[in-house]
Amino acid sequence: MQFLIRGGRVVDPAHGIDDKLDILTDGGKIVRLGKGLTADAAQVLDASGLIAAPGLVDMHVHLREPGFEAKETVATGCAAAARGGVTTLVAMPNTRPATDCPDIVKLVCGKAAPTGINVLPAGAVTVGQKGQQLTDFAALKTAGVPALTDDGVPIQNLALLRRAMQEAKALGLPLLDHCEDRDMVQNYAVNEGEVSKRLDLPGRPAIAEELQIMRDVMLAEDTGAYVHVCHISTAKGVDIVRQAKARGVHVTCETCPQYFTLTEEEVLRQGAMARVNPPLRTQADLEAIRAGLADGTIDAIVTDHAPHTAEEKAKLLPDAPSGMVGLETSLALALTGLYHTGLLPLRRVLALMTASPAALLGLDKGTLGEGRDADLVLFDPDREWVIDKEQFVSKGRNTPFHGRTVRGKVKYTISRGMIIYQEG
Ligand code: DOR
Ligand code: ZN
Repeated sequence: MQFLIRGGRVVDPAHGIDDKLDILTDGGKIVRLGKGLTADAAQVLDASGLIAAPGLVDMHVHLREPGFEAKETVATGCAAAARGGVTTLVAMPNTRPATDCPDIVKLVCGKAAPTGINVLPAGAVTVGQKGQQLTDFAALKTAGVPALTDDGVPIQNLALLRRAMQEAKALGLPLLDHCEDRDMVQNYAVNEGEVSKRLDLPGRPAIAEELQIMRDVMLAEDTGAYVHVCHISTAKGVDIVRQAKARGVHVTCETCPQYFTLTEEEVLRQGAMARVNPPLRTQADLEAIRAGLADGTIDAIVTDHAPHTAEEKAKLLPDAPSGMVGLETSLALALTGLYHTGLLPLRRVLALMTASPAALLGLDKGTLGEGRDADLVLFDPDREWVIDKEQFVSKGRNTPFHGRTVRGKVKYTISRGMIIYQEG
């Protein structure tokens, strides 16, 4: 099957391409990029007025299967990815059972195979994510995990974490860490500050995240391991990573649209719908996240797509689970918050969602070179639309962005040369 994607503005940050070009795909690969291409046998896709970019790479997604299929399945999560322009994703291991052995990696990959999404399950650092015994990293690596993480459950035992870093380093695997000190955050619902005071609730302090980032940076420096900080949310956290990078420590970090779009105030308006870990922070934190994205301290934009059922999210704020879905809104929120505001050039926004996360994980994805997999997103960067959770194909409807007007709409998602999503 050949596709000729004609007349789009091709933006490929990895190769510095931003030009009106045609793209010819064949058998799942990009075979040519150029002007005025023709191919008699090819199906023509008119991309005029659209941007053609590499399929998005989301390195932080909760697919929930096995174990929590009421929240999401691999199939529904992958459908949401396709609708959001995401063609490669890393699935977090906090399933039941956890992805702590090759069998679960294989199970998730098997479920993902028919979806057309390139799903890479991350391996758990500790057995059952219980923080006590390291998993078999070598076996997980052989099974294909791109990274190790206990995301959702912060690792507290430093001797164990240090050993994890030493072993991960020996195998060349990155360690993705959810940085919040568990004793400080407990099961609290909101940021510690004005809003927690107003609600008279105990809060999750910024320092709980910052101490854990500092600790990870020091252990990375000590062990030579590669540590990636998940969903960074505080100003000082960004600063710690900035300084560590300047010292040459092998540390990178990611953030999510919620942290550069919303503040803790959202909890006053939307209650549990705005509950997420780490929590939404202050305006100063939001601005520091934007600055970190602009100056290169933050390496990737991810969703932390965390579906929950309507019943779970209908609970009172202190009892509801944390998390929000994101796959179907991330590109629009990034374009709206970062590009249309003039904060970042389009190329940089796309790099943060394609080439940069792919490079962090050593994946041969996120760029459009000839011979590469034909993974693409075609989108209208200017189209205004209103986020409507009822339209989601994810089982999760837990978004604080319902009703928000955004700019930038995915029209087609193509994975290995197959159209896996088409608007309308
Ligand atoms: O809000 C969150 N939800 N943060 C996490 O780290 C985990 C996630 C989940 O699994 O629901
Ligand atoms: Zn997390």
